Amino acid sequence: MEFFADTAETKEIAELIDLGLIDGITTNPSLIRKSGRDVFQVLSEICQMVKGSVSAEVVGLTAKEMVSEGRRLAEIASNITIKVPLTLEGLKACKILSSEGRQVNVTLCFSSNQALLAAKAGATYISPFIGRLDDLGMNGMELIEDIRIIYDNYDFDTKILAASIRSPLHVRESALAGADVVTVPPAIIKKLAQHPLTDKGLESFLADWNKTGMKIV
Ligand code: E4P
Repeated sequence: MEFFADTAETKEIAELIDLGLIDGITTNPSLIRKSGRDVFQVLSEICQMVKGSVSAEVVGLTAKEMVSEGRRLAEIASNITIKVPLTLEGLKACKILSSEGRQVNVTLCFSSNQALLAAKAGATYISPFIGRLDDLGMNGMELIEDIRIIYDNYDFDTKILAASIRSPLHVRESALAGADVVTVPPAIIKKLAQHPLTDKGLESFLADWNKTGMKIV
């Protein structure tokens, strides 16, 4: 399973790279706004920091606008993945951009039929939004499970990128459901490593070790 970080904050990305666990980055217009940086500057910096896929979202509403914005964003670096919304125009843009050999992430997916269409349009990634479905009292994880079955039934190459991750439980369940990628906010990535029994166990091991007076190096 690949791990992407869902952020446009270069300081957070640098910390995660140091951990050695990050395969890519996803951004969206809200995350770019939150960074307070120029979209081209920040994306170019991120693409230099991370070797893997860096999703950059278009904001046009017609396929024509999305295609020209996507081509412009792709000029930033070879690891840019163009993110388009799951609308009919977005699917049309996905088809054109993917036929040009570009990586496309179809975002804002909330149903398995939408995911089916994205795969047919040649999407590299489909981004089902788990948290936003849960917010409405629906079961976001069921969507990941359904898409996994549909994509496997027809051998679609489109990767399932579990998005709108709000908790460590979402990460665990996405992994169990067979998502190919999970994009996680940095704060949640750190939480994945934490366990009170790990802290307690380490404390008692070190207390005993210190009593031996020995050194390893
Ligand atoms: C994914 O690509 C999106 O940027 C992100 O996961 C959306 O998450 P949110 O629903 O927490 O805003």
